[in-house]
Amino acid sequence: MTLCLYFAAPAVWDEYREILPALLAEAGIDAEVVTEAPKPAAVDYIFYAPSAPLQDFTAFTRCKAVLSLWAGVERIVGNATLTQPLCRMVDTGLTEGMVEWVVGHSLRHHLGIDRHIVNPGHIWDPTCPPLARERRVAMLGMGALGTACARALAALNFQVQGWSRTEKSVQGIPCFHGEAGLEAVLRGSDIVVTLLPKTPETENLLDARRIGWMKPGAVILNPGRGALIDDAALLAALDAGALGHATLDVFRVEPLPADHVFWRHPKVTVTPHIAADTRATGAAKVLVENIRRGEAGEPFLHLVDRARGY
Ligand code: NDP
Ligand code: OXD
Repeated sequence: MTLCLYFAAPAVWDEYREILPALLAEAGIDAEVVTEAPKPAAVDYIFYAPSAPLQDFTAFTRCKAVLSLWAGVERIVGNATLTQPLCRMVDTGLTEGMVEWVVGHSLRHHLGIDRHIVNPGHIWDPTCPPLARERRVAMLGMGALGTACARALAALNFQVQGWSRTEKSVQGIPCFHGEAGLEAVLRGSDIVVTLLPKTPETENLLDARRIGWMKPGAVILNPGRGALIDDAALLAALDAGALGHATLDVFRVEPLPADHVFWRHPKVTVTPHIAADTRATGAAKVLVENIRRGEAGEPFLHLVDRARGY
């Protein structure tokens, strides 16, 4: 019997409790999924979310892998008590949700939708927005989510350019890497999307100097992590009129404190970390596939590189 410990949000446990046993049985795995493990040494796999209080993995001596329900693993990746493989979540629900959020907020800024919705003077201004093919988008981060968003925007004719740590080739999307690549991508873009993980290398990636490379009036969409952007530099650029708007889904402190300037800044839109959510239906398939692999001695999917931090 394979013992799996669900150590994630209690609010969605019911969804996993329904789906997981059926999928495990379908995969021919004799397993039990529990929410409490009086004997940690008996646990084979842990389903983990950073909201869980579990911080010390020392007692889970038999555990073969920790399977994160989140894509971002910055809150567990440096945990020294975790000696087992750590896998992050890549699932269709997360990806579709992120594509919808990024496309929706890109179109808001591209089409100038606010101008018509917030039009207290009922001004008839028949200025047409440019076409998407005349707008350039920088996708910082070309992983599972960034690539899907880049493709969706490119399908709408936006001129999308990607930027990542390593060199990449994605059909129809020119890709860049390194500092010179970042500068080139930022200088030309009307919309900059940050879909990078939080690591020591990406923290404050968009600082005053790099924000200074951005096109006057450009818009930032950050569904990645709050720490990717230097908040003070962002506010200074918005206040100076150098940047047009920032739509932020993630923050250094969450929930964003009620008195935070982002809530009331006219050029900042706050969404409460809802860009994408792991959905049990898709995620359970990924968890079960990884357990199958673990039991068969095959390499895990979406294994986190602990040294790299993502
Ligand atoms: P991936 O690991 O698939 O992709 C990460 C991308 O970032 C890769 O292209 C990687 O480059 C690039 N990258 C990492 N470090 C650097 C660096 N130092 N310089 C340049 N590029 C770098 O992650 P996902 O696409 O699945 O997710 C991205 C992030 O989105 C998550 O880490 C999480 O923080 C956030 N997220 C937010 C959600 C929300 O609701 N707001 C929901 C889900 C995720 P390379 O390809 O070369 O390795
Ligand atoms: C995630 C997130 O990383 O929701 O999955 O931010």
